[in-house]
Amino acid sequence: MSISALSPIRFLECVSGFLQVIFLIGLLLLLFKAAQHYLRRQWLLRALYQFPSPPSHWLFGHCLQFKVDEELRWILRYLEKFPGAFLHWIWGSHVFIKVCDPDYMKVILGRADPKASLYRFLTPWLGHGLFFLNGDEWFQHRRLLTPAFHYDILKPYVGIMADSVQVMLEKWEQIACQDITLEIFHPISLMMLDTIMKYAFSYQGSVQLDRSSQAYLQAVSDLNNLVTSRMKNVFLHNDIIYNLTSHSRRTNSACQIAHEHTDRVVKLRKAQLQDNKSMKKLRGKRCLDFLDILLLSRMDDGSSLSDKALRAEVDSLMFGGHDTPASGISWVFYALATHPDHQQRCREEVQSLLGDGSPITWDHLHQMPYTTMCIKEALRLYPPIPSVGRKLSTPVTFPDGRSLPKGITVLLHFYALHHNPKVWPNPEVFDPSRFAMNSVQHSHAFLPFSGGSRNCIGKHLAMNVLKVAVALTLLRFELLPDPSRVPIPTQQLVLKSKNGIYLHLRKLQ
Ligand code: HEM
Repeated sequence: MSISALSPIRFLECVSGFLQVIFLIGLLLLLFKAAQHYLRRQWLLRALYQFPSPPSHWLFGHCLQFKVDEELRWILRYLEKFPGAFLHWIWGSHVFIKVCDPDYMKVILGRADPKASLYRFLTPWLGHGLFFLNGDEWFQHRRLLTPAFHYDILKPYVGIMADSVQVMLEKWEQIACQDITLEIFHPISLMMLDTIMKYAFSYQGSVQLDRSSQAYLQAVSDLNNLVTSRMKNVFLHNDIIYNLTSHSRRTNSACQIAHEHTDRVVKLRKAQLQDNKSMKKLRGKRCLDFLDILLLSRMDDGSSLSDKALRAEVDSLMFGGHDTPASGISWVFYALATHPDHQQRCREEVQSLLGDGSPITWDHLHQMPYTTMCIKEALRLYPPIPSVGRKLSTPVTFPDGRSLPKGITVLLHFYALHHNPKVWPNPEVFDPSRFAMNSVQHSHAFLPFSGGSRNCIGKHLAMNVLKVAVALTLLRFELLPDPSRVPIPTQQLVLKSKNGIYLHLRKLQ
């Protein structure tokens, strides 16, 4: 029977009956969810009773205690009271363990737990590359890519890094004539993208001069914000709900821009290698760069890397290789700007090596002990990756007898570890002598590059680029802070400042 054939009263009865059924289903679903929430919470409270927690709400957890970008300040507040590990409830039935103790770090980093499931929010952008792979597949990819970070490859690239830094400094020199302060994170990101494009992808142009990479950098910055806010908002964890939001649409369009950039890089290199002669030459090359290794690779079963896997590795390296070191360099510059006596000591050290105008080389990088100490101390205070997450695949017991069950998410909080007064006396004081040759530390007290088998594959490259950037900059500029704009560290995928990092640059005569 068609609706038009119903009398208006029958029609209203039908609609009201339908609404009642919907209401009942909704109510049942709500009750089911509430019971699930209650049972999960009870289980967590029993399982985690050995670990302290700042006071929390039974439903909202610690959500209402701080704004998203004030989490680091919140952590520091509780560090003194809970220096080992403490609970962070992001929802009444959703909890992380924040670990801030070197012995605990050692235990977790010595295991092979998979990455925390929160990282899945990054896979639409970075795919399943080295960052997120687990188990045998991760091992195969890590073994494949390790040669791209060998000293033989790193050595000749010191010159390329120096060229990229000099391009940035030339631009700064023009600005330094005017009496203004400069937000440094963006130009440093651009310089690092330039470096990594040349180092890992044999890119021939200059990212800093041709402006074509601005859209990529903007997309990375947007993705940093979008993914971080999704991770911290439990309502956005559900894919169905998330896909209905404007967040999701913005994430998709930023991913598209990022992928277009990496696709262009791969296409260009493939085109360069199209003819047989270039391919033969490449196979005969003693040191292959990162992209060459991927293009020539064969997995254990003899197959070459799929386009999807190749893109994931390129996206991961493009991001990890520029954004993390950009954060590192920016914060090191800020630390030196706020400690002029240490800055001057570094400058004198660098001048004694390069003051006669000689170009910086690999050998110079090992003759800068004081500059290296200052860089490490800045990485302690401002670790570019403030924390990493693991999901326990089996229960774990720590040396003090406390234990955690399988399935719990552990956040190894490097920022908290580095600011822990039990590990680093007077942690907020910038004191490079902590890293003097004869100083003794716990093996897991300083972890800017993480530790264990999943440590940073690019850590030597990163330390080199930090040294080159600091050395060349101090030869040309005095770095001064802007007292009216003190940066506020905030945790995104990498450590950023809520209000930018502004420095005053004074050109040296
Ligand atoms: C100051 C600079 C850098 C810092 C502080 C840093 C820090 C880290 C940390 C803490 C991890 C562990 C992540 C986790 O366990 O979830 C990591 C992993 C990684 N980093 Fe870096 N990184 C830096 C530079 C680089 C560079 C320059 C590259 C590449 C060119 C790179 C590529 C990677 C990759 C691919 C991984 C994943 C390794 C794996 O899981 O096997 N990083 N990095």
